[in-house]
Amino acid sequence: MSKPRILVTRRWPVAVEKVLSERFDATFNTDDVALDAGQLREALLTYDAVLPTVSDKLPAALFEGQALRTKILGNFGVGFNHIDIAAAREKGIVVTNTPGVLTDCTADIAMLLLLSVARRGGEGEREVRAGAWTGWRPTHLVGTKVTGKTVGIIGFGRIGRAFAQRCHFGFGMDVVFYNRSAIDPMEAARYGAVQLQTVEDVLEVSDFVSLHCPGGAENRHLMNAARFAAMKPGAFLINTARGDVVDEAALISALEQGTIRGAGLDVYEAEPHVPERLRSLDNVVLLPHLGSATEETRTAMGMKVVDNITAFFAGREPPDRVV
Ligand code: DGY
Repeated sequence: MSKPRILVTRRWPVAVEKVLSERFDATFNTDDVALDAGQLREALLTYDAVLPTVSDKLPAALFEGQALRTKILGNFGVGFNHIDIAAAREKGIVVTNTPGVLTDCTADIAMLLLLSVARRGGEGEREVRAGAWTGWRPTHLVGTKVTGKTVGIIGFGRIGRAFAQRCHFGFGMDVVFYNRSAIDPMEAARYGAVQLQTVEDVLEVSDFVSLHCPGGAENRHLMNAARFAAMKPGAFLINTARGDVVDEAALISALEQGTIRGAGLDVYEAEPHVPERLRSLDNVVLLPHLGSATEETRTAMGMKVVDNITAFFAGREPPDRVV
């Protein structure tokens, strides 16, 4: 029997590409440049499986019309808001993701952003690189202490919990959170965290607000102008979730006007575009979507995709099926 034809839309860790080449009739996008809508549509017509990433936008329009060859989308990533899930379901296309293996690394990046923005690490780094440091002085780049402060988490899934654990047990912070469903208080206590009823309750008491909820329609612009105004004066926003959870224009205004003190961002509304007004601000730390970017995690993510599509083509249930 011939091997399933698969398209891998970006370069993946070498060890994973090797396994994919052995098990499947694999085509790799060796240019490693994001595919456009026309190329993705063509892929859905041509390959048994397409293995996309967050940089591949798959809206409903790409699934419409003539019969598609693709039977499974093995997404390289836990978030899948770049895929129109309803449209895939309607076409009978299975979608899988890669949960669990990127929890610690993404929580680490959230911690890195929190510390960088609180302690003005980005500003200091830029100053030293520019050769502009004039020496130690008591009033130089004075930030805010994190120990004893309150961090508010929006979304208490795996990554939210791992971040809570770091903040509470690692840095002596008080942790509150909002989650759509109720979490057993004993379970929350394992992470040093206390659940509050509403997003507003969290904003009212938090010195740092960190987003850990999924992107997509349900959470689009969850952080808007009204919610920035509801944050404590002098508070900071951290976003390692998805860019569309934040109304970026409202965030920029809140930062420019001093409604909030700063932001640490790993994700943006129209990646890789980052607005010039945001880039020109000193009170932000900006990373290029690095949450899961470690050798160990990216390899584990790839191997999860391998497991998912291997199970699917062997007639078994893929372990991480979302549709
Ligand atoms: C994820 O896994 O969701 C990362 O953000 C990359 O897409």
